Amino acid sequence: MEQGVVLVTGGSRGIGRALVERLAARGERVAFTFHRGEDEARALESALGPGVRAFPMDLLDRAAPVRVVEAAEAALGPVLGLVNNAAVRREALVGFCSDEDWDAVIDANLGGAFRCARAALRGMIAAKRGAIVNVASLSAYRGVSGQAAYAASKAGLLALTRCLARELGRSGVRVNAVVPGLVDTAMTADLTDARRAQLRADQCLRAPVPPAGVAGVIDFLLSGDAGHVTGQEVVVDAGTSA
Ligand SMILES: NC(=O)c1ccc[n+]([C@@H]2O[C@H](COP(=O)([O-])OP(=O)(O)OC[C@H]3O[C@@H](n4cnc5c(N)ncnc54)[C@H](OP(=O)(O)O)[C@@H]3O)[C@@H](O)[C@H]2O)c1
Repeated sequence: MEQGVVLVTGGSRGIGRALVERLAARGERVAFTFHRGEDEARALESALGPGVRAFPMDLLDRAAPVRVVEAAEAALGPVLGLVNNAAVRREALVGFCSDEDWDAVIDANLGGAFRCARAALRGMIAAKRGAIVNVASLSAYRGVSGQAAYAASKAGLLALTRCLARELGRSGVRVNAVVPGLVDTAMTADLTDARRAQLRADQCLRAPVPPAGVAGVIDFLLSGDAGHVTGQEVVVDAGTSA
């Protein structure tokens, strides 16, 4: 991010971690958030050097995004890139989904991204440049039994992406989404082999998508190479949706 910091939510593991590592390897200044994985986050922070800083954040905490953006800017400089990557996944058939579970998933995945974007966009508007990438999911396109709340949160995130792109385009700020298919991370570790095979049955490519495969596309959308791309969704699913 030219002369700016990239803030990655949920950088302690999985796709977010792959992105933090990729950006840091190129010498970018990176702020990332963690929730429960403080040990992993602190280890990553010290392994990657002084240009990378970790900050605690709970997606449900209304005040956290402003606090994190202010802390990141004090430590590293202006935040001109934001990747809304942190999310939760809870499975329940609609008939058995509690109000608490529904609200928690929508509030974390959609509300959390909204609050992080709101906290970061003011500095981007002032700088007249910036890029936001929201990490959605193929569940936003395809009905998956048991994933109604998660899928609704991700479909909402795609709508948020398009509205933000409209609102911020005149300020030189781009907003895009990546739409991953199945990626082997802690989030999907509970899937049975049979379910995993079922979800991968429609892939065009044989190889599973690794976290770094999604991170590379996010990196592109943050970069000047995507300088004329906004309001778009890039699917990274090994061709599942082809
Ligand atoms: N894996 C897939 O197959 C897949 C497919 C489609 C889309 N995605 C999306 O890709 C993104 C990354 O997923 P992943 O597979 O890399 O997940 P992951 O390995 O489970 O990592 C999730 C990250 O989010 C953080 N997080 C979890 N709950 C949080 C909360 N309440 N508040 C703040 N942070 C929280 C975690 O922090 P701690 O570890 O510190 O607790 C972690 O850094 C998510 O948006 C996910 O929906 C994943």
